[in-house]
Amino acid sequence: MSTLLQRKMSAPLDEAALMEEILARKAALGQELLILTHHYQRQEIVSLGDARGDSFALSRKAADSGKARFIVFCGVHFMAESAAILAQPHQTVQIPDPQAGCLMADMVDLDLVSMAWEELSEIVGPGMISPIVYMNSDASLKAFCGRHGGAVCTSANARIALPWGLAQREKVFFFPDQHLGRNTARLLGLGPEDLIVWDPEQPLGGNRPDDIRRARLILWDGHCHVHTRFTVEHVLRRRQEFPGAKVVVHPECTEEVVALADACGSTDFIVEYVRQAEPGATVVVGTEINLVARLALEYPDRQVLDLHYSLCPNMFKINPAKLLATLENLGEVNVVNVPEDIKSEARLALDRMLALKL
Ligand code: 13P
Ligand code: SF4
Repeated sequence: MSTLLQRKMSAPLDEAALMEEILARKAALGQELLILTHHYQRQEIVSLGDARGDSFALSRKAADSGKARFIVFCGVHFMAESAAILAQPHQTVQIPDPQAGCLMADMVDLDLVSMAWEELSEIVGPGMISPIVYMNSDASLKAFCGRHGGAVCTSANARIALPWGLAQREKVFFFPDQHLGRNTARLLGLGPEDLIVWDPEQPLGGNRPDDIRRARLILWDGHCHVHTRFTVEHVLRRRQEFPGAKVVVHPECTEEVVALADACGSTDFIVEYVRQAEPGATVVVGTEINLVARLALEYPDRQVLDLHYSLCPNMFKINPAKLLATLENLGEVNVVNVPEDIKSEARLALDRMLALKL
């Protein structure tokens, strides 16, 4: 009888027993197993991981982890899928809950992007646009970028990837997060007149042909509901409650929130920002609540506060029971498979990202 079936027929393990069982399996597998955990995972999961990081650091780790036969990715599906694209042939990548998706990634698909690409190319001519896709996207869109001379980017390297795209061609088409695109454009000194937003439900994305010809950056009309929940009022309230506090936010926040913050960067950047804060300092963090809560625990000598409570329900789907069920069925359940043709083109776009100098 399988362990899973035995488990179903007996009482569920309590939290402590689950953790113990996972640790025992990890110890038995040694370097054959690599558990990657994103910063937004709940504390129990992060404590069981071999490496934690932002989506860029974890994709690097997946690409460099030749010794591990089994990679278990505790994060959302697009992250595990990127690890599967970068993994070597002897490796399998599994995600403890394949339903852990990303609402932002679901705001775009290959058909919509292909239609937009055709419309844009008719207006500006062929070979004028670099497509750059945010890591938070389906593999088919990464493959689209690989095929059309573009690249993937994450919030940790968008400020390098966008200029790279503009150096290749006159314009960049960036999807799906308009806020990361706009905040990066500001950093690069591009003004509002250089940007347009592409609404897939409108003809020409809701733009006039002249605006498309003039634009340097075409931003997909997508967003992360976890980060756009933060408002200007939240920042003003925290500043009033804690004068002297530093505010750090993720670039998926709106530009109004970013403009009021002291610093903005990827989840790894935020972790480093809190680490470098002086003991006694107050740091207000505008990102997913599990990361903020963990930073508060890890740095008790400084005050780490959330800008507002905001939880990613998909990240939260991963829990120790699902992780154990995956470890009990290594190489068998919830394996992330990417068809070979998509994999090779997506890999091109991911490799272009990994080659960028940070
Ligand atoms: P990072 O690239 O900072 O890890 O962010 C991923 C993400 O999903 C943020 O919402
Ligand atoms: Fe997607 Fe936002 Fe959750 Fe990140 S925080 S995985 S972008 S929904």
